[in-house]
Amino acid sequence: MKELLNVALPKGRLGEKVYQMFARAGFECPEILEDSRKLIFENPQSGVRYFWVKPSDVPIYVERGAADIGVAGRDILLEYAPDVYELCDLGVGKCRMAVAARRGYVDDPSRTLRVATKFVSIAKRHYAAKCRDIEIVHLNGSIELAPILGMTDVIVDIVETGTTLKENDLAVVEEFLPISARLIANRSSYQFKKAQIDRLNASLAAELSEKR
Ligand code: PRP
Repeated sequence: MKELLNVALPKGRLGEKVYQMFARAGFECPEILEDSRKLIFENPQSGVRYFWVKPSDVPIYVERGAADIGVAGRDILLEYAPDVYELCDLGVGKCRMAVAARRGYVDDPSRTLRVATKFVSIAKRHYAAKCRDIEIVHLNGSIELAPILGMTDVIVDIVETGTTLKENDLAVVEEFLPISARLIANRSSYQFKKAQIDRLNASLAAELSEKR
């Protein structure tokens, strides 16, 4: 029997959207859409096994070969720089990396800027390029709270609709990185399962070019 293609999908809305794209490309596994707490699903007929993974963990599964391929945001790939192949831009999960602050905030360049973020490497690189002295406060979520409580001056975070900023009286200072979901592959899987991965990649590319 042909070996299954192991796919790490980001748990959540983006993962469900991506699953639909993979299903249209011939890698169906209808059981995945059933409402359950199961994390792993396989369909030998279409030669695929899916896992639901916390989005920021997808590159770990792919880099270590537990998954042959996966889907991760460009933000996660730039932050963790995993040793994987990036095969294509899936054109979904679009958002921007931005600096935001309380409405009316004015930067004082003579002071160290306090920055709250989940994306420590991205924030450091962004400010290093501007030669701006910063202090990072590494948070894991609800980043918007930090400037509201006066813990930091700004945040570096993802903005999609802008609703979270708006509802917390924050405003974008600058947007600096467009983000979307990428198909990634483990380096050795890409040799051993090349036919399956290329078939998926080509079907996805055909679907994406039809949309453009
Ligand atoms: C992300 C991000 C923002 C929000 C932006 O948070 O950190 O808080 O989405 O989306 P919007 O512009 O559409 O409002 P996430 O939902 O991942 O939760 P988090 O608080 O755990 O970071």
